Amino acid sequence: MGKFIIEGGKKLVGEIEIQGAKNAALPILAAALMTNEKVKIHNVPKLIDVDNMLKILKNLGVHTEFDGRSVTIEAQEINSYSIGNSLAKELRSSVFLLGAVLSRCKKAVVAYPGGCDIGLRPIDIHIKALRDLGIKIEEKAGYVYCDGSSPEAGEVCLDYPSVGATENVILAAIGIPGVTVVYNAAREPEIVELQNFINSMGGHVRGAGTPKITIEGTEILHGTEYTVMPDRIVAGTYIISVIMTGGDVAIKSIKNGDLSSLISKLSKNSCNIASNNGIIYVKAKGRPKAVDYISTQPYPGFPTDLQAPFMALQTISKGTCVFTENIFENRFRHVPELRKMGADVIIRDRTAVIKGVSELVGAEVYAQDLRGGAALVLAGLAAHGITVVNDIYHIDRGYENMEKVFNKLGANIIRV
Ligand code: UD1
Repeated sequence: MGKFIIEGGKKLVGEIEIQGAKNAALPILAAALMTNEKVKIHNVPKLIDVDNMLKILKNLGVHTEFDGRSVTIEAQEINSYSIGNSLAKELRSSVFLLGAVLSRCKKAVVAYPGGCDIGLRPIDIHIKALRDLGIKIEEKAGYVYCDGSSPEAGEVCLDYPSVGATENVILAAIGIPGVTVVYNAAREPEIVELQNFINSMGGHVRGAGTPKITIEGTEILHGTEYTVMPDRIVAGTYIISVIMTGGDVAIKSIKNGDLSSLISKLSKNSCNIASNNGIIYVKAKGRPKAVDYISTQPYPGFPTDLQAPFMALQTISKGTCVFTENIFENRFRHVPELRKMGADVIIRDRTAVIKGVSELVGAEVYAQDLRGGAALVLAGLAAHGITVVNDIYHIDRGYENMEKVFNKLGANIIRV
């Protein structure tokens, strides 16, 4: 399963180049099968989730090649419209393939998706939205069977601005003649990326980044070349690590607008943070001060994916922070592990109260999910002594060579 052995207490200093965004790359890879021409996607992060998506595409008969950071996809022919249980369980994003495969084949079957164990993660909003577009759906024995032989473009109003459901309905609507309008759409930057990618293939999607997205069904999409945006969650994680270690780092290739909810919390905190020409400069200023109250929200609110790393920061900040997790019901699994390191955190339902301690101490801890695992590494970097983070396969799902990034900045992390 792998572990990191971290010697804490080293200041992080230097420059980081941010990897491509996993949550943008995955739906883009799914969307690439909607054309039978060659698609080249650059700045794709080398991650287990990306490998799993490529395996699923191969199983559908799609030719894929991963060379450096570029993926070539050629879906000249699709010889299956079914995504089996074993790979779907590994990857929550397999659910996007419903929309993309439906657009291309008019039929799709997918096993219920997996991913991090951070909550129930149902797909009812996806299913309702697809049904609103005239797609007949049956759920049987852990599989979702979709028949898109007589779809109808129209209006879809999501009950909640789900990121995945918004992406799925965009992908499905591409294959449906006429105009589809999605209301209460999620506004995440990764959805804007999907729109831009589809439009680079000759699609007509507009409004992404707002709650109303309009999609004109397009019979034929053509090949394209596209570069994936940098990962705002990875950038946010590294910004937090700099503050926790008293460091001074330039974080390259990131739009700070995408991180404004984090940066606005940090500016009130104890660091200097400034951006210039796509580079964010972060310099810690002594012991950070706690943020009084913070709650996760859909974009542009504070991202649930930064809740755990930000909580790690609060554990050593001066004062008390009250943190509410509104998006996922089981996303505090890092808390018992942080407590092993001396953190003072109590949880009541979806709210955590964190009283900052002056120092964390190294301990043996276990990553329980992707972002919670990253939070433990940050805690280990700031702690006194040695921290062992076990089960780092969770972290490898979203962070490319995390230990190499940190070691280049002066950390001492060994992967075993
Ligand atoms: C995406 C991101 C994930 C991020 C999350 C919220 C990807 C690959 N993953 O996940 O990193 O944490 O957005 O920003 O992009 N829900 C339902 N029914 C549904 C769909 C969602 O109840 O049909 C619930 C979920 O259980 C969750 C909430 O809605 O509680 C948000 O989920 P959603 O926005 O769909 O997240 P994902 O697309 O799964």
